[in-house]
Amino acid sequence: MDTITADALTNSRITAAYREHTPGSADLAKEAGELFPSGITHDARNVDPYGVYIQRAEGPHKWDVDGHRYIDYFGGHGALLLGHRHPVVSKAIAEAMNEGTQFGASHPREVQWGHAVQRLVPSAERIRFTSSGTEATLMAVRLARAFTGRTTLMRFKGHFHGWHDQMASGYTNHFDGSPTPGVLPGVAEKTVLLNPGDVEGVRAAFASNPDIAAVIYEPTGSSFGQVPLGADFAQELRKLTTQYGAILIFDEVVTGFRATKGGAQMAFGARPDLSSFAKIVAGGLPGACVAGRKDLLDLLDFNVTAKLGKEKIAHPGTFNANPVSAAAGTAALTVIAETDASDKASATAASLREKLNAVLDAEKVAWAVYGTYSGFHLFVNPSGLKIGPYNFDPTKATLEDLKNQPKGLVNKLRLAMLVNGVDLNPRGGGLLSCTHTAADVEETTEAFRQSVRMLRQEGELN
Ligand SMILES: Cc1ncc(COP(=O)(O)O)c(C=O)c1O
Repeated sequence: MDTITADALTNSRITAAYREHTPGSADLAKEAGELFPSGITHDARNVDPYGVYIQRAEGPHKWDVDGHRYIDYFGGHGALLLGHRHPVVSKAIAEAMNEGTQFGASHPREVQWGHAVQRLVPSAERIRFTSSGTEATLMAVRLARAFTGRTTLMRFKGHFHGWHDQMASGYTNHFDGSPTPGVLPGVAEKTVLLNPGDVEGVRAAFASNPDIAAVIYEPTGSSFGQVPLGADFAQELRKLTTQYGAILIFDEVVTGFRATKGGAQMAFGARPDLSSFAKIVAGGLPGACVAGRKDLLDLLDFNVTAKLGKEKIAHPGTFNANPVSAAAGTAALTVIAETDASDKASATAASLREKLNAVLDAEKVAWAVYGTYSGFHLFVNPSGLKIGPYNFDPTKATLEDLKNQPKGLVNKLRLAMLVNGVDLNPRGGGLLSCTHTAADVEETTEAFRQSVRMLRQEGELN
């Protein structure tokens, strides 16, 4: 660091060190800027001045195009509970690839995949595979509307369910429910947006609006518990949706097979009517599903709908249950069912959270690291609460305080961590896999200590 002078554009030694560390990524980012909006292919990969370009990965690690190794806490956006290139999953993918990638027909692997889901998720009486989590939540809501004959969807501020029209307002902005650019006002209007955990708000909304078809939410809280929710809220939602004849949808795209091997629904002892799964469900390849009550998924069934005299909901999708994703998903879910992968990742995460807080304590920084299961979140205390790493209770903090972590500061921390060999997620936290070891935790702890000191040197901490 000492030989590095500040970045000419940002006056930041951290940015300058990052640029010096990643020349190959800089070249590719420049090229990508001429191809893609912001040079990227997913909003969450937006890093200032540019993100690292990764060449290969193995277990908990990934290597960039300049040959640097990073301990990976991005975890394939949460898909990699088993780490990169798990041997059982890789073997299954190779075998499937050898037999063909798209048959335009049903195939044995989709049946095995369905069993693998059902084995871990008892509420999955029926399953329909899709290609992404976005499609899974889209179908869940459509099923709920068709089943109940109602039109309105209840959601919670900050909860993410993919990028389709009805999920756009209220995730990072438009908390008043107004439509985001390109979304029809009529679609946005059919959403009731509440504060997460607000049981009284839920009760009042149901009491005043007979048109609520469904409630969808991230059961452990938005972004895997950045704004935490627990079993109590799940039980209340279960009670109220049953009382008012609405459909309860657990969006388990991240929590599925991760919170516990049976997802958040197993952790909370709550049975949703429908669940959406993606990420881990397809073993690190594209793939997802909506799963749940037979009478709801029957609306996709040719014979049942004909018998009931109901109109079937159409559901094509070229790559639904494609054999390669099916093979990867079946392999991953089988490993998860038969090992302690979920619990192991959670235990390593608990130890990481503790060690990162010890760094904050030693460096006298009034931030905190918190989280549940195999995740960790960084709280950089934007409004200067009188807290320390050991006495921060996220359930007592406001939604705004938890969600509005200053982007510039968190971005700088990420750059510093990358220079020190660690890749965090855009919120400065991450998700662990069962392949992260105690040595990775130690290395990450030291990287965090160095990064905090770099931030202090740069005047970012008081
Ligand atoms: C809770 C949740 N739901 C839905 C989605 C959308 O899934 P996909 O990115 O596969 O469309 C995500 C993606 O991150 C998610 O975290």
